[in-house]
Amino acid sequence: MKTLTVHLPGRDYDIRIERGLLSRAGELCREVLPKARRLAVVTDSNVGPLYAGKLGESLNAAGFEARGFTLPAGEPSKCAPALEQLWEGFAHFGLTRTDAVIALGGGVVGDLAGFAAATFLRGVDFVQIPTTLLAQVDSSVGGKVAIDLQHGKNLAGAFWQPKLVLMDPDTLDTLPDATFADGMAEVIKYGCILDEPFFDFLAQRPGRAEITTEIEHVLYTCCDLKRIVVEEDERDTGKRMLLNFGHTLGHAYELAGNYQTWTHGQAVAAGMVQAAALGERWGITPAGTGARIAALTAAFGLPETIPCTAEQYDAAVGLDKKGTGADITLILLEKLGKAVPHKMPKAQLLEELK
Ligand code: NAD
Ligand code: GLY
Repeated sequence: MKTLTVHLPGRDYDIRIERGLLSRAGELCREVLPKARRLAVVTDSNVGPLYAGKLGESLNAAGFEARGFTLPAGEPSKCAPALEQLWEGFAHFGLTRTDAVIALGGGVVGDLAGFAAATFLRGVDFVQIPTTLLAQVDSSVGGKVAIDLQHGKNLAGAFWQPKLVLMDPDTLDTLPDATFADGMAEVIKYGCILDEPFFDFLAQRPGRAEITTEIEHVLYTCCDLKRIVVEEDERDTGKRMLLNFGHTLGHAYELAGNYQTWTHGQAVAAGMVQAAALGERWGITPAGTGARIAALTAAFGLPETIPCTAEQYDAAVGLDKKGTGADITLILLEKLGKAVPHKMPKAQLLEELK
């Protein structure tokens, strides 16, 4: 088993990565939840039928009383009514402050269950058991939990670190190729922003089968890079912004497709290539960097460009949370493996994107 520890003041937690780990979840949860009796297992309608049974058996064997709370799969479940449904369900189940919530699923389940845990009884413990590649390399680590509002994604949330993160790479076997590719956009992002040798490692394994052979190393490396960032900047006021590479333009592409045409991973992939192109044009990023990123993302079927009008760029740049007033901080690459924040007037960026 590979183990990483995220060190945060008074809230250290382990990330454990091993094939078949799901069947050992009970004993591992018991180690971090010695007093818990009841566990609310939040999952979705795709993941529950695949993995909740195996998880439940393991939790019961460790002496927990586990109850499943299953939501419809998909982003619309990350909403206030679903959150209220969970609160009421937890209360009905009799969940107490010494009990805990388990998130079994992708980033939607993790963000929603995490926010429910952060707020129920003013905060109960929770354990992340991510089952998508994106959730394993990104959303399950770092404590950002949230729901979407009508006005936009992730607008209500909290920082609420898990007690434990359990990753069973075997769960990725049932992911559709497109969902796996979405996660690869974030995997490639880590190489781009923080670790050129890791980027090269990925470039030598250009396909799902090749990555799957090395999946434990891939998960460990991504989580270790995210750990370093989160330990330095838990509250997202500095270094954590580097994780936004490809996301400012990516949000514009998601908006351009009305959140239907392009997945988040596809939009981020195109956003990374275009951010590299801008950096190259401004003399910040070495020539050819965008082409290297595009060659790798293309190996996973991710697009290099996405059509986007000036109005759509305008709307997305206006919404960007990393902007302050008239300026925006775009994440650029000083070189592959080294991201830098680049503050600039929003108007100038919009002009350059025309
Ligand atoms: P998701 O949770 O919707 O999962 C994608 C799809 O895969 C769903 O249909 C799901 O049911 C299915 N699925 C999950 N695991 C499966 C498995 N093992 N086998 C078969 N199907 C499976 O989406 P996601 O891409 O995992 O996460 C996206 C969400 O994560 C967004 O809401 C985003 O805002 C959030 N996010 C949060 C953070 C953070 O730091 N908290 C970071 C990045 C993204
Ligand atoms: N996924 C971005 C962050 O965790 O900050």
